Amino acid sequence: QMMQTVLALETSCDETAVALVQFEGGKFRVIANCIASQADEHSKWGGVVPEIASRRHLELMPFLIKEALIEAKTGFESIDLIGATVAPGLTGALLIGSLTARSLAALHGIPFFGVHHLEGHLASVLLSDEVPTPPFLVLLVSGGHTELIRVNKNFDYQRLGRSHDDAAGEAFDKVARLLGLSYPGGPSIEKIAKGGDPRRFSFPKGRVSNPGGGYYPYDFSFSGLKTAVLRQVEKLKKSDIDLPLSDLAASFEQVVAEVLVERSLKCAEEQGIDSLVMVGGVAANHRLRELMMTSSKDISLKVYLASKSFCTDNAAMIGTAALLRLISGGSPSSMELGVCARLG
Ligand code: KG4
Ligand code: ZN
Repeated sequence: QMMQTVLALETSCDETAVALVQFEGGKFRVIANCIASQADEHSKWGGVVPEIASRRHLELMPFLIKEALIEAKTGFESIDLIGATVAPGLTGALLIGSLTARSLAALHGIPFFGVHHLEGHLASVLLSDEVPTPPFLVLLVSGGHTELIRVNKNFDYQRLGRSHDDAAGEAFDKVARLLGLSYPGGPSIEKIAKGGDPRRFSFPKGRVSNPGGGYYPYDFSFSGLKTAVLRQVEKLKKSDIDLPLSDLAASFEQVVAEVLVERSLKCAEEQGIDSLVMVGGVAANHRLRELMMTSSKDISLKVYLASKSFCTDNAAMIGTAALLRLISGGSPSSMELGVCARLG
């Protein structure tokens, strides 16, 4: 097969993103990667406001497409397929990407591929220098999801673990908020945690009990952790000293990293899987990346990390997922495909 080029759009949440990705000679290459973050705008409200997100996508999208085509020095004549995130995410936000992609596909007679956002996150690791081959275990940690997924072969997934309440990224966002740090919480906490003492406070590693009286070994719970940080903050506020923000942030970050690493390693070991992939916004976290790399050496587990810039939401990963479907012989999506806020 010759070279294939995809134009991809991502609008599931608060990043308007457009990318062009090529597949040639067995490799994926990003030739344009444009992202307009709306974080500052949502920061004022402490989180994403769906209505604002949709309106910003609406305003920005045409200009981002133009910018991406200029960056890639190409035009529609060399685009073979168009991909867009169709689920899961904010409905109004998803509609903008889907409508734009399908309109362009119809206008230029190019096949359209609707992409599942999590499949996009998973594909982000294919943009690294070293690429895993199935079977492997994926730790997907984002603002909406915390999952351990076994990939038996391409597109054959089995979920082995999940969070029963907040996602890991959601925990970062909520704890940042209660510490008075700005949205998105992950980067704010990471910044202030630098130089903090990760052992000063010991926060709980939430477990999920099963009806048999034990615990689900690969599942997560982060809501208790968030409450524990809140209680600690309330306690500290009663004394007259300034809040030790760095130590609080570092201790929180440490326990999240430990719980994610411990359960992933246990899962890989017990399932007899020797490769682990880590993707999603939280996978950009330095402490988590370090701990995963060092801990995995002890059990000779090979770890593949998506590069930091492809961990948080972007369109390059969506394009890569669409290309992967195409080169694996998958058919384009129906032009009548809708969007879906929640999808398995
Ligand atoms: O994958 P992503 O960009 O969007 C979703 O699909 O949700 O993930 C966003 C989440 C947010 O909760 C954000 O606080 C978190 O990822 N995040 C981080 C870091 N960068 C982003 N969490 C910890 N450390 C980071 N450096
Ligand atoms: Zn995401």
